Amino acid sequence: MTMASPRRSLQKRPDRESATPSDSIAVRFLRPGDVEALITLEKAKWDQDQAADRTELAARIQAYPRLSIGAFETGGTALASLFMKPITTEELDSAATWADCARVGTPPPDATGSLFGISLSSVDADAVTAIFEFFWPHALKHGWRDIYLGSPMPGLRAWKRTHPNIPADVYMREKRHGFPRDPQLRYYHNKGFKEIVACKPGYFPHAASLHYGAVLRGHIPLSAGAPLWRLVPLPWLQWMRRLLFRLV
Ligand SMILES: CC(C)(COP(=O)(O)OP(=O)(O)OC[C@H]1O[C@@H](n2cnc3c(N)ncnc32)[C@H](O)[C@@H]1OP(=O)(O)O)[C@@H](O)C(=O)NCCC(=O)NCCS
Repeated sequence: MTMASPRRSLQKRPDRESATPSDSIAVRFLRPGDVEALITLEKAKWDQDQAADRTELAARIQAYPRLSIGAFETGGTALASLFMKPITTEELDSAATWADCARVGTPPPDATGSLFGISLSSVDADAVTAIFEFFWPHALKHGWRDIYLGSPMPGLRAWKRTHPNIPADVYMREKRHGFPRDPQLRYYHNKGFKEIVACKPGYFPHAASLHYGAVLRGHIPLSAGAPLWRLVPLPWLQWMRRLLFRLV
């Protein structure tokens, strides 16, 4: 299972004429000066008890400047952000909550090819696509192989009303027509996060998910060739990305 090609998962906005999301969306690594624009996005997409504040956003950017990515409109409005950090499977397994995994400032593990997606926020599906497309060559060049993340399951509360005695992890794994029943798990499945790793109670504040989190894993496309990609110049990988994503 690999992360879906951005080209395949592209959902075009009707008001956007370009065939390539990155034609009208600027994607780049985040800088401390982006915090104000990011705060607006956080407030738009997260409840008050979930949203990161200025200090947290700045700390993520400072700690992981090559793993903090933003997509912006021409006028500077932030359309989407993705914050990641390196993580080991031991850290992931021993973490009870999202906060344990997302904590910034812990010394980065020496040798890991895995990342944890601290947060993804978006008001524009094309911008998310553009972010994954942007990151892919950098991930190959660095040797990152997979990304874990903790997803809400916003359909769980309603499902539990009709299935009060069935554990949440049954819902997490339930499928309809071959896709996860839960809308957000389905969203991530379509983005390539097809492997369900764990169902964690009390994972983060999210009422509709009854505060459960689903830990998911997505493989970075072609990362099995990691030793080779490290030798390939980044511009070549960026060129390869354009070629590959146009072919699929
Ligand atoms: C999840 C998120 C990043 C997706 O952003 P996006 O790529 O711009 O995509 P959209 O919001 O247009 O959603 C795409 C589809 O997934 C579905 N989906 C995604 N998250 C969902 C959720 N929490 N509840 C219900 N449906 C959801 C949408 O209904 C939509 O379906 P549609 O195409 O049939 O309308 C964005 O909705 C967001 O920022 N949410 C709040 C923060 C969050 O939950 N982040 C992820 C936590 S790890």
